[in-house]
Amino acid sequence: MQRTRVTPVRSCRVCGAEDWHTFLELGRVPLANSFVTDESVPEQIFPLALMSCRSCRLMSLTHVVDEHDLYEHYFYVSSPSRLIHWHMEGLAAHYRSRLDLGPDSLVVEIGSNNGDQLSKFREFGCAVLGIDPARNITAQARARGIDTVTDFFTAEVAKRVRAGHGRADLMMARHVIAHIDDLHDVVAGVRELLAPDGLFVLEVPYLVELINRRAFDTVYHEHLSYFLVSTLQRLFERFGMRVVDVAEFDVHGGSIVVTIAHADSRHRVNPETVDARVRAEEEAGLFRDEAYDGFADIVDRLRASLRSSLLDLREEGLRLAGYGASAKGVTLLTTSQVPPGSLEFCSDTTPEKQGTLVPGLGIPVISPEEAREREPDVYVLLAWNYRDEILAKEADFLARGGRFFIPIPEPQLVGGERAAISSAARS
Ligand code: TYD
Ligand code: ZN
Repeated sequence: MQRTRVTPVRSCRVCGAEDWHTFLELGRVPLANSFVTDESVPEQIFPLALMSCRSCRLMSLTHVVDEHDLYEHYFYVSSPSRLIHWHMEGLAAHYRSRLDLGPDSLVVEIGSNNGDQLSKFREFGCAVLGIDPARNITAQARARGIDTVTDFFTAEVAKRVRAGHGRADLMMARHVIAHIDDLHDVVAGVRELLAPDGLFVLEVPYLVELINRRAFDTVYHEHLSYFLVSTLQRLFERFGMRVVDVAEFDVHGGSIVVTIAHADSRHRVNPETVDARVRAEEEAGLFRDEAYDGFADIVDRLRASLRSSLLDLREEGLRLAGYGASAKGVTLLTTSQVPPGSLEFCSDTTPEKQGTLVPGLGIPVISPEEAREREPDVYVLLAWNYRDEILAKEADFLARGGRFFIPIPEPQLVGGERAAISSAARS
C-alpha cells in the first residue's frame, strides 16, 4: 500500500508569514472521504488541528496530508439537492446579466465536478469548459456534453487552456480552493486565463459562519484553508487583482460568493458589501487570538455534549442510524468519541458510497431504499447543512414517530412530539 505523506505547515499559503496561533487539537482522524469496501485494510489516521495566521488571519490545518491521489477517484458528487440547484441557477443568472454573457462568451469552472453548474451557463448558449482532476466524475460531465479537462488547475494548465480556447469572460471555483495547498499557483492561473474585464467567482465556506454555527465538523483533512474576506483581499492583491463584491448564501453551512476582478479592469469595489464585511470581521475580534481560543472552548464542550446525548439515546434502547454519509460526519463522530457501533448504518444517496464503510468507524453505508426497510428510531443528521430540505423530504418518517438528532449548532431532537400530536389529532 502506498504511504500517504503528511507535512507540517510552516509558512502561510496566503501571506508567507510564519507566525501561527494553534488553538484547536482534534486528535488523529482518518481521511474523511476514504470510504472503504474492505475492513481488513488498515486505516491510516492523521493529526487534525487548526491554527490562525497572526498576519493575515488565514485559518489553516497544522498538517497537510497529500491527498493528490484521492481526487483522481473522488467520492464527492454534487448532491441531488434542490437548494443547491437553485443556488447554481441563481449564480448563473446573476453573472449572465452582470457580464452580458451569450454565445460569444467562455465560462471556465475550476473543480467542475459532474458539470451541474456549467450546464446552467450552457443553457444561455455560452461556451463552457470544466477543469477537474476526478476521472470518474469528469467522465459523467463529458457524457452529458460538458467539455472537461481532467487535471488539477495550475498556472501551467491555465496557459494551455488559454492557448486552446482564448481567455475566459467568467471563471468560477466553488468549494474547491480550500482543498488546494499551492494557492499562489492557482491565483496566477486565474490571472493568466481571465479576460481583462472578466470576473472570477469564488465560493468558499465563510469562516465567520463556521464559528457562529460551531461547524467544527467541516474541518477535515481535505479542507486546508478557512477564509475571511480580509484574507482573500490580501491573497488577490498580491496578484494585481481585487475583491469587488461579496454575497452570503446559506449553502454548505454558510458560504460567501466573492467576485474578483483584475485591479485595472472596469469593475469597481462595492463598499456596501466588501468594506462592510471587512469592518464586521474586525469588530468581531477575528484579528485577535482570543476569538479562536473562545471558539476552541465552545467546540470542546460541544463534542462532549454530542457524545453524552448520543450515549443517552442508546441507553434508552433506541436504534440510531446516520442520515447522509458526509465527510463532516467522520469528523463529528470520531472527534467526539462516539463509540463505534452506536450507529447501525448510514443512509446515503450517492451510489459510489453505497456498499462501503464509513472511514474509521466501519459503519456500513446503504441506499435510502434499503434504509427504509431498516428504519431506525432516530436519524443522526450528519448532513445538517441540508436540514430543512431533508426534514421536509422525510415528513413521513417524522409522522410515523421517527426523530432526527441535529448535532450542529447544538444537539437537538426533532420529531416525536409532533408525531404524537398528529396521531392524537387523528384518533
Ligand atoms: P455534503 O454535505 O454535500 O458534503 P460533505 O461530505 O463535504 O460533508 O454531504 C452530504 C452527504 O449526504 C452526501 O454524501 C449526500 C448525502 N445526502 C443524502 O443522503 N440525502 C440527501 O437528501 C442529501 C441532501 C444528501
Ligand atoms: Zn497569513
